[in-house]
Amino acid sequence: MNKDFFHKIKENKLCFHIETYGCQMNEHDSEKIAGILSEMGMEKAADMETADMIVFNTCCVRENAELKLFGNVGALKKEKRRRPSLIIAVCGCMMQEDGMARKLAQTFPFIDIIFGTNSMQELPQMVYAAIEHGERTIIENKPFGAIIEDIPVRRNSAPLSYVSIMQGCNNFCSYCIVPYVRGRERSRKPDDIIKEVKSLACAGYSEVMLLGQNVNSYGLGTDTTFPELLERVATETGMQRIRFMTSHPKDISPELIAVMAKYDNICKQLHLPVQSGADRVLEKMNRRYTIARYKELIRLVREAMPDCSLSTDIIVGFPGETDEEFEETMALMEEIRYDAAYMFVYSKRKGTVAAEMEDQISDEVKKARITRLVNRQNDIMYENNLKKVGTIQKVLVEGRSKRSVGDLCGRTDCGRMVNFPCEEDLIGKIVTVRITEGKRSTLMGELIK
Ligand code: 5AD
Ligand code: SF4
Repeated sequence: MNKDFFHKIKENKLCFHIETYGCQMNEHDSEKIAGILSEMGMEKAADMETADMIVFNTCCVRENAELKLFGNVGALKKEKRRRPSLIIAVCGCMMQEDGMARKLAQTFPFIDIIFGTNSMQELPQMVYAAIEHGERTIIENKPFGAIIEDIPVRRNSAPLSYVSIMQGCNNFCSYCIVPYVRGRERSRKPDDIIKEVKSLACAGYSEVMLLGQNVNSYGLGTDTTFPELLERVATETGMQRIRFMTSHPKDISPELIAVMAKYDNICKQLHLPVQSGADRVLEKMNRRYTIARYKELIRLVREAMPDCSLSTDIIVGFPGETDEEFEETMALMEEIRYDAAYMFVYSKRKGTVAAEMEDQISDEVKKARITRLVNRQNDIMYENNLKKVGTIQKVLVEGRSKRSVGDLCGRTDCGRMVNFPCEEDLIGKIVTVRITEGKRSTLMGELIK
């Protein structure tokens, strides 16, 4: 590949569009893909229809993500026939699944590039081969290596930013495919993380979200624990707001709670997936905590930070989950009163331990359970929002509100979205807002200063 190739990309004003499925880790990977393509001279397209290159960054945590991907890629067949120069790439977690890259390549011969979560740095060569030689690149099941530093990032969400602190997962929850498609845990060096957060603060970003599949087990091979890293980010980077996710209840330590409570720039928000309210189900899920231990953790968090916002993930319809066990999950939700919950129907993932378990639950029962859970949780969220009316909150102004025309929106320290009238030049600033109204999923407010 030579410089002429980059000139050619620029001269032809080639532009890309990325479709991202799944979690924040994937969102952040897409920012890196956008960074690599931008360094090659490509621009961001206004939409998919006008793009010269379309990238699908996939997720495979649940089966419906897969069905959606096949539908969306299939829909491009006609477009590729009409515009043969269009480059179509598919990447991410799903491409690490056994046999999936090959299956996709065979089903859709018009895809130019396929690669997994750990081959992103080879993207320039793949694009070169596609444009200059009309060659296809399919990278299958590449072993996971060390985390690669210095991949350029083109960020989407100023004044918010994502920084990945580790990759992979060692937990093997019995329902989950992530350890198979993201590999074993690898932690970035603390100094590299501090440097990145510092440069984001200098560039005007006001908030950072530290990302990892299980941030509390950060540190393997670095002699730094997660609470130590968090303390360094809070004190050495100048970042105004720090959040992190996801935390595994088995790894939350008293040190972490103490560091969170100590620093004002660490947001009082904890995402603590419980998955089920029943001990027997938790054991079958290989979660390695009991509900008594989980509740004790919540007590310690609330004791140290009474206003700490709590959110969770729940799976209903795990194999063998009885009506009584589902009621235990309902009771837990009632007791904890989460500010947010991501609720999922169990989805069978090939290759995981739970996929082989007997007593898979019928779709009908799963549907009835999720409907009840979601409805109750929505009411709890609304009740929690109503309690916020009249309070004074620090809000980081993020941009124009999608829900409330003419207003701006931003998040409180505890992560609640607030809409309020405010001048656009306050975007990126932390302002003080009085909450005037609680809606079902957001708050309304007025600017005090
Ligand atoms: N089925 C349903 N939900 C799942 N999750 C992970 N694997 C599955 C599965 N097979 C959920 C868990 C996890 C979140 C990211 O996705 O709740 O915390
Ligand atoms: Fe999946 Fe469990 Fe790892 Fe989370 S901790 S990514 S649910 S295996």
